[in-house]
Amino acid sequence: MNPSGGILWHWHAWRHRPLWKHSCEDIAQWLAHAPSGHHELLLIGASAGWMMDSAWLQRFTLIDTYDLDRLAGPLFRRNHGAALRASGTVLRCHRADAFSDLGSVLREHPKALVLLDNVLGQLRFHYPDVDEASHRVATVARKLQGRHWGSVHDAYSGPVRTPCSARPRIAMARQQKQARAQSGQSGAPQRAAFAKFGGQLDADGAWLDHLTDDVFAPGTWVHHIAWPYSDDYCHWLQAAWVAPAGQIAPSKESMP
Ligand SMILES: C[S@@+](CC[C@H](N)C(=O)[O-])C[C@H]1O[C@@H](n2cnc3c(N)ncnc32)[C@H](O)[C@@H]1O
Repeated sequence: MNPSGGILWHWHAWRHRPLWKHSCEDIAQWLAHAPSGHHELLLIGASAGWMMDSAWLQRFTLIDTYDLDRLAGPLFRRNHGAALRASGTVLRCHRADAFSDLGSVLREHPKALVLLDNVLGQLRFHYPDVDEASHRVATVARKLQGRHWGSVHDAYSGPVRTPCSARPRIAMARQQKQARAQSGQSGAPQRAAFAKFGGQLDADGAWLDHLTDDVFAPGTWVHHIAWPYSDDYCHWLQAAWVAPAGQIAPSKESMP
């Protein structure tokens, strides 16, 4: 069984689309500021693209999606196929583990912009051992060095006091520069941010750490997005673009 995808995920996503509307808009706004100049997209953890913006996908001439889930490709085509046919975008859906040999996957798509689409924060469900999961997340981020890449992923998730449907759009600070951890204190910036955002998110009790603390280097401009996953459970997503060393990633000035 796939702990982060499959039929239950698709059913949940389809049912909760109205509740996810604002989160999808926030993601679309972040996507719109992806680095320019790329005609190809490598989309990892694409699933059916329930939270993906078809209009953004249309800017590419070739899209390769990767997901473990056998339903992902057909449902991705169902959700975005018409828009991609209209823009003349070629869509290739691969059912594969993109991380078992990420180096090869990256070499197969040397010019593509890489997007990890809500997958890094799920690795802790695929590797129940916390140290193993953290190591896997760090390995993915390290292998992407030298590429233009972005990721939107869970930082924390947990129960909320007020039903999400009873709240207006959950406002989070749009972006913050990733702070530098004090030496020997991995995760310190995230914990400080959680102290700040926990109230906005209406967090109730302990939240799950998705082990993505160190994905973005200090100094990266990170978008913070609330995702009401269900009426009583909310995720805190983080999203950022990363450029190869020596090149400039989209910054606060270039974003809304
Ligand atoms: C939360 S879902 C992604 C949601 C998706 N981006 C959307 O908008 O609908 C996480 C997805 O990551 C996929 N996944 C997890 N590990 C993977 C791996 N090693 N390679 C490819 N896909 C993976 C799961 O199968 C699942 O479909």
